[in-house]
Amino acid sequence: MATKQQQQLTPFPATAASAPAPAPVAALPPPYMVAEDGAIYASGRKPTDLVTGPDGKLRKPVVVWVDGCFDMMHYGHANALRQAKAMADILVVGVHSDAEILVNKGPTVMKEQERYAAVAACKWVDVVVPDAPYFTTLHVLDKFHCDFCVHGDDITTLADGTDCYQEVKDANRYRECKRTQGVSTTELVGRMLLMTKDHHKRRSSLAQSPITHFKSEELEGFSSGASKSAPYTTISHFLPTSRRIVQFSEGREPMPGDKVVYVDGDFDLFHVGHIELLRAAKAQGDYLLVGVHDDQTVNAIKGSNFPLMNLHERVLSVLACRFVDEVVIGAPFKVTKEVLEKVYKVDVVVVAKPEHDIDGADPYALPRAMGIAQRKLYEERKSACCAKETQIADEFDLPESHKAAAQAAKAEALKAANGHK
Ligand code: CTP
Repeated sequence: MATKQQQQLTPFPATAASAPAPAPVAALPPPYMVAEDGAIYASGRKPTDLVTGPDGKLRKPVVVWVDGCFDMMHYGHANALRQAKAMADILVVGVHSDAEILVNKGPTVMKEQERYAAVAACKWVDVVVPDAPYFTTLHVLDKFHCDFCVHGDDITTLADGTDCYQEVKDANRYRECKRTQGVSTTELVGRMLLMTKDHHKRRSSLAQSPITHFKSEELEGFSSGASKSAPYTTISHFLPTSRRIVQFSEGREPMPGDKVVYVDGDFDLFHVGHIELLRAAKAQGDYLLVGVHDDQTVNAIKGSNFPLMNLHERVLSVLACRFVDEVVIGAPFKVTKEVLEKVYKVDVVVVAKPEHDIDGADPYALPRAMGIAQRKLYEERKSACCAKETQIADEFDLPESHKAAAQAAKAEALKAANGHK
């Protein structure tokens, strides 16, 4: 049966004959709707809907286009989308196909269906356009009713060196947002392959980090965007600020009578497995509270150099997800009375992680005794997450030395997962 949101939506008119045929998009679960031309309506809002202006009168919405690869979607990507949405009423995001990125930049880590789903799950996005052209044209902006295009303040070129935004720049339909320092796909792949724990701690000297001695050419196989002018990849220099957390946070309180759902986890390298869990958890009630474990807890359970993203980075990824209402930063592994009562009164706890703590105790003992633990989603999550977190190193032709490190990380991850079945 169609959801309320699906019933309200009508697709865009059929694609113009001259436009490239859209890539088929795998059936996405509600609340999304996929239109005839392949566009994914993620929020239920359309570029053709009128909006109420400050004078109370109805007007055409300001519609903004952003495009990109969004490989291993991270909080830098989410922050670009947040800034673009601040300039718009409706945000349309074009995501390039694997084939288009391969020609212009190199192979991606995440497949296109995963990248489309990751962008659709970002709370600032209204419409996702799969298989968007790498060179941004006025045709694509017009087709999706966009007034202008927004991109981070870095230059993006085609394989032949042409500026991807020249046409929209010439037409004065290009704006910039501030690129987020300290995170990139290259950086995340580097953490994975180098087994560095630098992202867990404050550093006194950049020179001491092993990742500073890792040549960017060695990561070039990935659609990394590693700067040619900087011969070495940089280590994480993410500086958590309360302002960034506030910018990403919705600030919504539960309404009286709302059913509050709690789900916890590490949410490392935020991916489609996490998104699917959060979507399914939100569907259990009205308000989703997410507990994100601190770095020490994750490391004690998973070992090796996990988590690959530190607590604040993981919190930002979770906050950017449209299904999430509030986050407990550094939630305890055991679901305690405080967690269930102090933030909001929790009605349902979704069991989403191994059911033994390192001391062997059941972290869900309390919600189970209270009769509010819900285990149904656990099996689905286990396979989705494990597969994704260990896939990356397998799929790429890495130098032998890095393969060994990646294999060791994978073995440890599997051992940890099996040990907690
Ligand atoms: N972006 C950003 N901050 C980052 C990374 C990306 O603001 N740290 C922005 C880009 O400027 C672009 C959008 O996110 O507007 C999508 O970027 P993408 O096409 O995925 O490519 P990259 O910029 O190469 O992203 P990454 O370095 O992570 O691969």
